[in-house]
Amino acid sequence: LSGVITLDPGYKNSGSCKSEITFLDGELGILRYRGYSIEDLAEKAHFLEVSYLLIFGELPTVKQLEQFENDIRKYTLVNEEMKNIIDGFPKTAHPMGVLAALTSALTAFNPKSVNVDNEKEMYEAVCKTMGKFLVIATWTYRKSMGYPLNYYDNTKGYVENFMHLMFELPTGPYTPNPIVIDALDKLFILHGDHEQNCSTSTVRMVGSSHAGLFASISAGVSALWGPLHGGANQAVLEMLEEIHATGGDADKYLAKAKDKNDPFRLMGFGHRVYKNFDPRAKIIKKAANEVLATLGVDDPILAIAKKLEESALEDEYFKSRNLYPNVDFYSGIIYRALGIPTDMFTVMFAIGRLPGWIAQWKEMRENKEPIGRPRQIYTGHPLRDFVPSEKR
Ligand code: SDX
Repeated sequence: LSGVITLDPGYKNSGSCKSEITFLDGELGILRYRGYSIEDLAEKAHFLEVSYLLIFGELPTVKQLEQFENDIRKYTLVNEEMKNIIDGFPKTAHPMGVLAALTSALTAFNPKSVNVDNEKEMYEAVCKTMGKFLVIATWTYRKSMGYPLNYYDNTKGYVENFMHLMFELPTGPYTPNPIVIDALDKLFILHGDHEQNCSTSTVRMVGSSHAGLFASISAGVSALWGPLHGGANQAVLEMLEEIHATGGDADKYLAKAKDKNDPFRLMGFGHRVYKNFDPRAKIIKKAANEVLATLGVDDPILAIAKKLEESALEDEYFKSRNLYPNVDFYSGIIYRALGIPTDMFTVMFAIGRLPGWIAQWKEMRENKEPIGRPRQIYTGHPLRDFVPSEKR
């Protein structure tokens, strides 16, 4: 289990890639960032520390971490003209659509970030992205609520700033519960990176044409939005709320998920790679119990999730297809307990995945990977003679 998988020599055109960042074994349910187990990192590290590990390859010393946090702080101001862009959106716009647009717009205000031809420019682009993305991600919520947009507070930590940016109001001081900060820190770590998933492959693909980091991350946000990918955490909560609202009959929804004539899928279950438990789901389920108990939240949705999981794990259809809960099954229950609105759940996923996207884009550029160009199996017509329109 050294984590080394040999690639066929033709891998350059196969759509696969080499990477030193994340190792996962879908059969054994193993996930490691730069060789460190996700269990260790979730338990013992902090999100910015893990972001540094993903992006630069090593766990930072105390000094390196302080420097990284301070360098991010240099770039958390977002050009005031960006407010004209967000003002163009209706309040009802989905935050992921607003986030994708604002992220891409960052290029207009930071044109130098497109060319990262040396270590200094790369480091600056990394810190700018970590700093500005968090701010604009929360602006999507503030805009939807009609609240004034907040600024990053350089006296607070990165994850604490998320809560400040989201919930601080001019009417008075806001002090988030430290339990909430700890829970968010752990959740962001668990979403940090995940090898060549749909959105990360998108970031690498867009970046391989030497499009800038903001444009590449914006493409990743759009890919993550889909309900089969990061959008699943919102879809899970909507599914659980529907089950609760219609009497809590989990088995009825299991039957729907198994019915091939019904497009409904059990959201938060199954995975392209994990054919065993998603190790992140185990940690998040434990955290959900702890956070709700500590906050004194008695959420019937948690009980429905557990009942659904229990029934599915005993059901032949799910067992025979190795369908287990994935990272999205329990995360929304914690976000809900922390007061995060449902349509912001996938934005939370994006904030956690940001260092992974950056790390993978940086690795692709530093390895001077060729432009992405997957090939295809052609299944169309053989050569045909042209038919003039009057004869069609
Ligand atoms: C993420 O790739 C990553 O790493 C992603 C991610 C990350 O960190 O970046 O882990 C994050 O995207 C997690 C997945 C979140 N999505 C969901 O929870 C949506 C619900 N799950 C699915 O739609 C589905 O499981 C996928 C999209 C995740 C995987 O789809 P696949 O590859 O088509 O699943 P499969 O090939 O393993 O399916 C095998 C069978 C099929 O049935 P049969 O054709 O054999 O009869 O299982 C069925 C599928 O129809 N199936 C499901 C199901 N998932 C698969 N049936 C009911 N409910 C489900 N959730």
